[in-house]
Amino acid sequence: MSETEKCTVHEAEIDARNENVLIYVDGELVPRPDAKVSVYDSGFLLGDGVWEGLRLHNGKWAFLDDHLDRLFEAARAIDLDIGADRGGVVEALEKTRLANGMTEDAHARLMVTRGRKIRPFQHPDLSRSGPTMVIIIEHSQPVSALGSRGVRLATVPQVRGLPMSQDPKLNSHSKLNCVLAAIQAEKAGADEALMLDPHGFVNTTNGCNLFIVRKGEVWTSTGDYCMNGITRAKVIALCRANGIPVFEKNYSLVETYGADEMFLTGTFGAQTPVAKLDGRRIGSGELPGPMTQRIQELYKALIAEVTA
Ligand SMILES: Cc1ncc(COP(=O)(O)O)c(C=O)c1O
Repeated sequence: MSETEKCTVHEAEIDARNENVLIYVDGELVPRPDAKVSVYDSGFLLGDGVWEGLRLHNGKWAFLDDHLDRLFEAARAIDLDIGADRGGVVEALEKTRLANGMTEDAHARLMVTRGRKIRPFQHPDLSRSGPTMVIIIEHSQPVSALGSRGVRLATVPQVRGLPMSQDPKLNSHSKLNCVLAAIQAEKAGADEALMLDPHGFVNTTNGCNLFIVRKGEVWTSTGDYCMNGITRAKVIALCRANGIPVFEKNYSLVETYGADEMFLTGTFGAQTPVAKLDGRRIGSGELPGPMTQRIQELYKALIAEVTA
């Protein structure tokens, strides 16, 4: 992959099997070309729903309890009855996985919306048929070249906002703010967007959490304005358990441009190195940097342990 070729953090190796995966739609398993929800669905009309992205290793969903905790907490926050308990959600996930014969290198997007509305307007009371649950599982492997080329970020004007507008901790279907950030980054010739917090401190990206490494220390934002990423939490815990100094703190773009290493975290890509921010090369340019590599290895070992 060339230095200038566009490659986002969620780019996956092409896999023809994904054209015909079976998708879970409200209890039914439907071939991808036929998997549909109503145009009256609150998710389609309003982005009124919550979702989780999960990854399959060794036939098991990594950090499943953490994902279920976050899903049910988000649903409670938006007053959405998922229509199933934790066991029911796991059953649906497993039914979909088994129907597709997947054991490794698969990624699930589990979505629950407030369901079909009786009229195409905003009020939640208009959703009267119960929730819609859709589970898409694809054969999915991050493109390997990204590990050595790294992603290019551009700082964008869109911020991850204050919790009283739309709490950035909510993994909601309404992602327009992040989509706009991604468009902005693309127009600037980058792959992904670096988003600041409302005070101008470095926060997160449009689809992942962000870490920098400076003089042997690992820094990430305070967590107040970003998604409470499960990978983020695991990286922080791994650093603490392995004697790597890690800080959740405010830091600025100046400290970020001067970082030795930078990487993104997310369920899909685990830890993805960042090559450039706003046209400036980060660190020596050798990717992944030594700390990123150490954390990648610790994370891989953790995944192996929890999915053994
Ligand atoms: C905006 C944003 N930040 C970060 C993440 C990463 O979270 P996780 O590590 O739980 O996948 C996600 C994933 O859904 C996200 O949408």
